[in-house]
Amino acid sequence: KGKRAFIAGVADDNGYGWAIAKALAAAGAEILVGTWVPALNIFESSLRRGKFDESRVLPDGSLMEITKVYPLDAVFDNPQDVPEDIKANKRYAGSSNWTVQEVAETVKNDFGSIDILVHSLANGPEVTKPLLETSRKGYLAALSASSYSYISLLKHFLPIINPGGSSVSLTYIASERIIPGYGGGMSSAKAALESDTRVLAFEAGRKHRVRINTISAGPLRSRAAKAIGFIDMMIDYSIANAPLQKELSAEEVGNAAAFLASPLASAITGAVIYVDNGLHAMGVGV
Ligand code: NAI
Repeated sequence: KGKRAFIAGVADDNGYGWAIAKALAAAGAEILVGTWVPALNIFESSLRRGKFDESRVLPDGSLMEITKVYPLDAVFDNPQDVPEDIKANKRYAGSSNWTVQEVAETVKNDFGSIDILVHSLANGPEVTKPLLETSRKGYLAALSASSYSYISLLKHFLPIINPGGSSVSLTYIASERIIPGYGGGMSSAKAALESDTRVLAFEAGRKHRVRINTISAGPLRSRAAKAIGFIDMMIDYSIANAPLQKELSAEEVGNAAAFLASPLASAITGAVIYVDNGLHAMGVGV
């Protein structure tokens, strides 16, 4: 029987979420995506108008189908959490049921269950500020959007993830090594995400027989990465210094995520898997 995947954090065809969706679709999975509410209109209209058709082509020549796009804001767990200014915001008022709990409920009502949960989202409002200049508010916002969002998604989706299912998130080596420029508490957020991957692997494994892993991905010129401002430098650095001297493609990360979600990875859980052309293994630049 085909598997069903929910991928949170797809709003265009440039990021890791899109590539993961494609790799899972190529392997036969049904694709549901969660799209950040402010980006929903443009993503859905671009999809409808065929703007992504070239990027939808799968290895067998068919086009990836997205069965349903759910509006999602992963910093809010339920309607009681949503402040008035967000409720009144035009972009938010135009959609409904976009808190984590409501999205999980809607997916349950629509499809009953899923097999694969992907978290491919992050946000750090002060990412361009050094950690020493980061405000408490900015730091907590980075952790809320980039780390707790995963705990919340998993908590609400776990009851509808079939036993034997799997979940994967995306992390970055700035969690464990100094990457100047990845600021605003984003390095801290990734460290939390990786630590949580281990603890959640234990809890979800024991309780639901679900595997939890995270992919530490190399640099990709996504929308989020461009906002940080140093992505071209990081790509050049990786090509110059990594064991494999090539640009990393989003597809390579997508393929690793599809592997982790598959029975081929049935004994892998609680792991940080590097998909970075080996850059993490270097001790010095060369
Ligand atoms: P992206 O821009 O394609 O994906 C980030 C997504 O998060 C966007 O679709 C955005 O709309 C969504 N988002 C932001 N706040 C949200 C919220 N509150 N609720 C729901 N969705 C929200 O960029 P990218 O780079 O593909 O990011 C995906 C993941 O990959 C992130 O966790 C990122 O940290 C990670 N990553 C990216 C690297 C890179 O060089 N691009 C390197 C290593 C990890």
